[in-house]
This record gives sequence, structure tokens and C-alpha cells, in this order.
Amino acid sequence: MEELQYKDDPLHGFLAACGVTARLMDAPVNRFEEGEPVAPSAAGAPAGLAAMMAAAEADDFPLTESDEWDDAPPAAEDDEAVHAARELARGAADLASLHAALAGFDGCPLKTLARSTCFGEGPVGAPVMFVGEAPGRDEDEEGRPFVGRSGQLLEKMLAAIGLKREDVYISNVIPWRPPANRTPSPIETATCEVFVRREIALVRPKVLVALGGSAAKTLFSVDSGIMRQRGRWVRFDAGEAGEIDAVAMFHPAYLLRTPAEKRRAWQDLIAVRRKLAERGA
Ligand code: URA
Repeated sequence: MEELQYKDDPLHGFLAACGVTARLMDAPVNRFEEGEPVAPSAAGAPAGLAAMMAAAEADDFPLTESDEWDDAPPAAEDDEAVHAARELARGAADLASLHAALAGFDGCPLKTLARSTCFGEGPVGAPVMFVGEAPGRDEDEEGRPFVGRSGQLLEKMLAAIGLKREDVYISNVIPWRPPANRTPSPIETATCEVFVRREIALVRPKVLVALGGSAAKTLFSVDSGIMRQRGRWVRFDAGEAGEIDAVAMFHPAYLLRTPAEKRRAWQDLIAVRRKLAERGA
């Protein structure tokens, strides 16, 4: 499969904005000439495309909180990229080495279309670590997680429980902005997940918070959506770093679009503050 080098070609730029990252064949196939039936959903394609192009302009992730994987869970164990990622991550003894390993890793196609590798930031041993889904436009431009509108809301949420951004550790499951903020594929997620799990083990927070349903599904290996998962405490297995109290909350991007849910987000924040107090943090 050939990766598209979109920077040199405006058509490829358009395809990249639609989420196309690789060419499967040398020449396009005209499905109409083949006489294949047109799927009923094709009638809605222009609106879908318009939504996708609008999403390309949006700086936030995820597009919805109710996104579910349609695919089967990733059969990642045997995947070459996941294997390579695991070797690299295992060899990283501290965050700086992990950052360098990630920056030098070419096994995830998302990297080819992103401007930056958005590695997490914050102190080792931070009382709480927040993990989102993937960088949006602003994060990709700055090379830092949660610096756009979602990040601003996250900072306000932190302030509400007496924390400053620099007190906590903030990262994402995926360190590269997916083109047009599309949902990362299961294999892309599985590859990046290896790195963020190692990052969590190296940060060793007292409390881990998954921001949004997608991060919760990946980190906690659950199928249920955020509506069921939020507020439920689990023990996150951080390998040699032991078990960490972990919980999921609504993603700030979702709260920006659904302000009525801020009430429940506030309850979840209070629970985080209570757990930190229990852990002496
Ligand atoms: N949304 C995320 O999930 N992560 C970011 O860094 C920004 C927006």
C-alpha cells in the first residue's frame, strides 16, 4: 500500500482532508461502469462529505461522544507495527526516551499526514493524568496536547477542583492528528496505545482520567460507551508501576457542544477530587 505524499499534490491534499491516507491500487476503479448497485447511503454522500470537510476545519476531537467501533476489536497482537511499537516503548526508561522513540517511530500512517507529534506534558508523579483521544488542528499546529478550545475548557475544569494545568499530566491515546479528525482505525489505535500505556506507567499518576468514550474504550478495554462508563472507577493495570485508580469523564469537546452535560461532568470532577484526597494527593 503506497502512502500518499499529499504535500506535493493538491488533489492528494483534498483526499487527505477526506481521510484518505493511502493508495490501494494504481488506477481508480469506476464502479458505475462495473454496473454495481449503488448503496442506499450514497444518496446522502454530499452531506456526509460536507460534514467531513467541516470537521477538517474543526479543532476538536471527537466528532461525537457516541461513536462506536463498527469493526471487530483489533487483532493487533500479530501486527508488525504494534510489535515494533511494543519493543520501542518497553525500551524507554523515562519520558524523554519515550518521546524520542515515538518521534522516530514510522509504523503508524497517521504520522505521515500530521504536522507534529503531540507528546504528553506535565510532571512525572503528577497526582492526576488526563488522556484524550487525539490532537485536533490547534494541537497539531502547536505540537502540544489540549491547547485548543477543548484544552481551554479542560483548564477551567481543573481550576474548578483547585488544580492548574502545570500540576497535572495531559496526553492523548493518539499522538498524531488524524486527517480531517477522522476516527483512527483499530490498528492505528492499537499501535499508539502501546506508547500511551508506557507513558502512564512512567508518569505513575495517583489517578488516571480517560477523556471521552474513545479513550475510555482503549485504555480500559471496554465496549460500553461513555454514558455507561463515566463515573465508574476501575483499577488500571500499569504494569511494573502497579495499579492506578482510573475513571472516564465526558470529553471537553463534547461538553462544548452539549453544555447541559456540564452538570454531570461536575459530579465526575468532584469524584476525582475525592479520590485524590483519599490517595493523599
Ligand atoms: N481533543 C483531544 O482528544 N485531544 C487534544 O489534544 C485536543 C482535543
